[in-house]
Amino acid sequence: MKWYKILDIQFTDQPFITKVKAGGKSICLVGFKGNIYALSSICPHAGADLSEGICVQGKIVCPFHRYTYDLETGKRPK
Ligand code: FES
Repeated sequence: MKWYKILDIQFTDQPFITKVKAGGKSICLVGFKGNIYALSSICPHAGADLSEGICVQGKIVCPFHRYTYDLETGKRPK
């Protein structure tokens, strides 16, 4: 695994969602309950930009069709 240093992120306890570029890819960063999660900004369902979604109870909600993905596992809830 290759690590990338992300600049311009000011970490606080406040929830946030933002998009950054790392390694030529668009990455969605989600700050939630003192942790930062990094995931592809492209929704695996139909390609929406997850960084335009919302974070609800540890899950990111896609802005297009409202699929949710767990921030810890990346999986959809059953
Ligand atoms: S594009 Fe994200 S749920 Fe459909």
